[in-house]
Amino acid sequence: MIFRKAIWISFAAASALSASVARADGGDASRGAQLFRVCAACHSLAPGRNLTGPSLAGVFGRKAGTLESFLRYSPALKRSNITWDEGTLDAWLRDPQALVRGNYMSFRGLPEAKSRADLIAYFRAAPQGVAASGSRGLPDLKTAPPDARVTALRHCGDSYFVTTADGTTTPFWDFNLRFKTDASPLGPAPGSPVLLGAGMRGDRVHIVFARPEEISDYIREHCDSRKP
Ligand code: HEC
Repeated sequence: MIFRKAIWISFAAASALSASVARADGGDASRGAQLFRVCAACHSLAPGRNLTGPSLAGVFGRKAGTLESFLRYSPALKRSNITWDEGTLDAWLRDPQALVRGNYMSFRGLPEAKSRADLIAYFRAAPQGVAASGSRGLPDLKTAPPDARVTALRHCGDSYFVTTADGTTTPFWDFNLRFKTDASPLGPAPGSPVLLGAGMRGDRVHIVFARPEEISDYIREHCDSRKP
């Protein structure tokens, strides 16, 4: 089951700037770089860096649904037999579901031709190195600070007690603590889970492990609060 959240994006500000200029070609790559921020929620331009969507490094000339390191393509995109060029990218960005029904990209599309042309110009122009700046700038979890490095994880009743490398132990309601894995190069080192998103209210907190089998190994069921 794939969790898909509809994302509705307003390009009102951009539209106001270029209201009547709807050119299909000659896009402005620097404006495209700005527009790419919307895509960057799900796509990196760094080679091999897959997020919710596949890396778009070298997307020009690539056959749709064929990046080997991306394991989550829809069957629809894989069998679409599309090659990405100006024409196909323009159609995809205008209305992804119209071009490939049943694809997994939860993005409504860009109605404005100028915005699509600018983005496409950016893809053509973007050298792979610069491209990394278009990625989300996700932190490398191997370099997490001591207050984020989990050293012990105790469970008692409806609570977790998370001890970090700075020596503090913080309680969380078990429903508020989510466990994740990140097997990418930016994920944590094996055996060194990382606490993310800790806030005063303790909601939306994650512990990220390198591999799924580490999770239950790490949790110790124990109710003596004097021994965290
Ligand atoms: C909410 C997340 C999300 C957003 C936002 C998003 N994409 Fe995607 N994109 C995906 C997913 C997931 C796929 C894979 C779709 C499939 O397999 O059906 C995809 C696929 C693609 C592909 C095909 C890549 C390939 O390897 O065949 C292109 C091109 C693309 N997106 C461009 C964009 C651009 C440009 C934007 C910004 C205007 C954008 N996407 C915004 C999630 C997103």
